[in-house]
Amino acid sequence: MTQNITEKIATLKKEKNAMILAHNYQLPEIQDIADYVGDSLELARVSQGITQDTILLCGVYFMAEITKVLNPDKTVLMPDRHAGCPMANMITPGQLAAEKKRNPDAAVMCYVNSNADVKALSDVCCTSANGMKVAQSLSEKEVLFIPDQYLGSYVAKRLPEKKFNLWPGYCPTHMVFSKEELMKLKDKYPDAKIVAHPECRLDVQEVADTICSTSQMIKYAQENDARQFIICTELGMLHRLKKENPRKEFIPGSQNAICPNMKLTTAEKIMWSLERDEHKIEVDEETRKRALGSIERMLKIK
Ligand code: 13P
Ligand code: SF4
Repeated sequence: MTQNITEKIATLKKEKNAMILAHNYQLPEIQDIADYVGDSLELARVSQGITQDTILLCGVYFMAEITKVLNPDKTVLMPDRHAGCPMANMITPGQLAAEKKRNPDAAVMCYVNSNADVKALSDVCCTSANGMKVAQSLSEKEVLFIPDQYLGSYVAKRLPEKKFNLWPGYCPTHMVFSKEELMKLKDKYPDAKIVAHPECRLDVQEVADTICSTSQMIKYAQENDARQFIICTELGMLHRLKKENPRKEFIPGSQNAICPNMKLTTAEKIMWSLERDEHKIEVDEETRKRALGSIERMLKIK
């Protein structure tokens, strides 16, 4: 009897002693194949407790790279090595080194959507789930926040006692949301709550009922009495929101919010990846050790 792709993946997972982690933006079929689906912070934390030899990460490059930094003795695979995050490439180590010289008293707070060589030059990392807690944990009065200006603004606005210098990076996918479009949706769905990711522009953040990470959106929808939610983040998020809240309605804040890199992972590529042990993520040991410092400092903040 021939096996279908999902069955082949299950067989290969056993043979290779592998575990599949997927980000909330992955295609529905990938989320359904995965052993664990979560936001960036959850994926990092979960990877630390994995006993299998191989971790296959379905997401974008920086997520697989964090997994390798935290698990240097494991094989970390990505089904498509071209799945990068454009925001991560908006700051280079050279640019950061120069900016640090201009801000000698500032702590460098680095959004995890960044490359390991940039994390290696940073004091602490953060995700969209813990930005406030991380910033509050810093003793420095000045913070150089890289690379996302919008997550940085979200935190800076709520911590006026600190001085923030924001790097002008952004997520192209989250740029598609606008206050004008949201107001039109609000006319149509007046009781709906607007839920926005902190990567959204400030006009969108201003009209949102809550601003949170992708997994925090699920908790908000579960705990809130509203029956309709306008979701301002990548469209892949709607799969889990609907699956875990079948009685509620989720309306996309824009039909154009698609991260093309997140959609590069397919079931076939997962199968090939496990069959061929491709594509292995490697991080140079010196960079890994220094990036580990800023990631571990974040993970210690509960
Ligand atoms: P989360 O950590 O909220 O899942 O966000 C990651 C991301 O890339 C958002 O665009
Ligand atoms: Fe990067 Fe934006 Fe895609 Fe998230 S949605 S991975 S920030 S490009």
